[in-house]
Amino acid sequence: MRGINPAVAAVASPPIPEARSWAARYDGALGPVVDLTQAVPGYPAHPDMVRKLVEAAGDPESFAYGHITGDLALREAYAADLSSLYGGAIRPDDVAITAGANLASFAATMLLARPGDAIMLPVPWYFNHQMNAGLLGVDVVPLPCRPETGFVPDPLEAERLLDGRVRAIMLVSPNNPTGAVYPPDVIEAFGELCRRRGVILILDETYRDFRPAAVDRPHGLFGDAGWRDHVIQLYSFSKSYCVPGYRAGAMVAGPRFGPDITKILDCIQICAGRAGQAALAWAIPALRDWREGNRALMNGRGEAADRAFSQLPGWRLDSRGAYFAYLRHPFPGRSSFAVAEALAVRCGVVTLPGSAFGPGQQDHLRLAFANVESDSIVATAARLQQLSF
Ligand SMILES: Cc1ncc(COP(=O)(O)O)c(C=O)c1O
Repeated sequence: MRGINPAVAAVASPPIPEARSWAARYDGALGPVVDLTQAVPGYPAHPDMVRKLVEAAGDPESFAYGHITGDLALREAYAADLSSLYGGAIRPDDVAITAGANLASFAATMLLARPGDAIMLPVPWYFNHQMNAGLLGVDVVPLPCRPETGFVPDPLEAERLLDGRVRAIMLVSPNNPTGAVYPPDVIEAFGELCRRRGVILILDETYRDFRPAAVDRPHGLFGDAGWRDHVIQLYSFSKSYCVPGYRAGAMVAGPRFGPDITKILDCIQICAGRAGQAALAWAIPALRDWREGNRALMNGRGEAADRAFSQLPGWRLDSRGAYFAYLRHPFPGRSSFAVAEALAVRCGVVTLPGSAFGPGQQDHLRLAFANVESDSIVATAARLQQLSF
């Protein structure tokens, strides 16, 4: 009997709903549940953004299908913003607006790899990138990253692992799940490796607006017009503008990819939501200062996370960045799943187990602290200490 596509059936289920379900078994003894499973900003959208969204929602234009690759006003605003951040000349035609960065990463994987081909992912990986590949019958070549080197992948190691099947290397910086911010020269070395070896670098920069104050420009890839042949950059408007439910992201790629990206986006989205696009075209220049303020706020939360989690006896803060802390738990031999579940059920702190992020991650938990205010981070850390087996 025919049934589900075996490639789809083999993909693991989304980890966040399962982790959240554990909280139902917590008795509330240590205070309300603290949900650290999903990377969402813990503050609302700017009030002017809300007004723009309301206006745009009532505009007859928003009820109609739009261009497959996005409305020109948003592509222009985004291209101008990127050009000033990266010091390169990014054109509106280089930009495709997608219904979120996850859809963009799915489209990029489909664009580049056939079933049986492979993409390379640093481990720990963002689980949806691995799930995309699985759904499409594309293999994953893991590129191990280690706490000793801040979970920053090594381009030389990547080159050793490149085989004829690898069509793309997909990096996330600032990283999910570790938070690691890859130094510009590492990102540029990956760009150079991909150029030399005829592989495409897919760079997911969903969290770039929250990079540390010291990082002015995330990398210099766009300074060389040759990027268009071997770099595809992904971005999400979800976090920076607090609109994850509006589903808006962007894919930046050179003209040789454009027609094929358009085919894929026509099938999987037709167009991204129009009201969100209209409001974002306004917001990109208008809310620049607000975004910078949030960057400082999130950096402050990150520093609070550093202080709180680095002093927990037994636990080790292996990495921390824009939205995430990646903690080594003090229960060697116990699965990350068992530790995360116990932490949720007994202490009311819901995290994701390292096992959701690839092989060899059993000793880690991911904490998405972005939606918790600095004061509560300290109280949350104290709850971790209550856990024993
Ligand atoms: C690395 C990364 N890419 C993409 C996404 C999803 O972004 P979007 O809401 O735009 O689909 C996330 C969200 O957690 C993420 O962490």
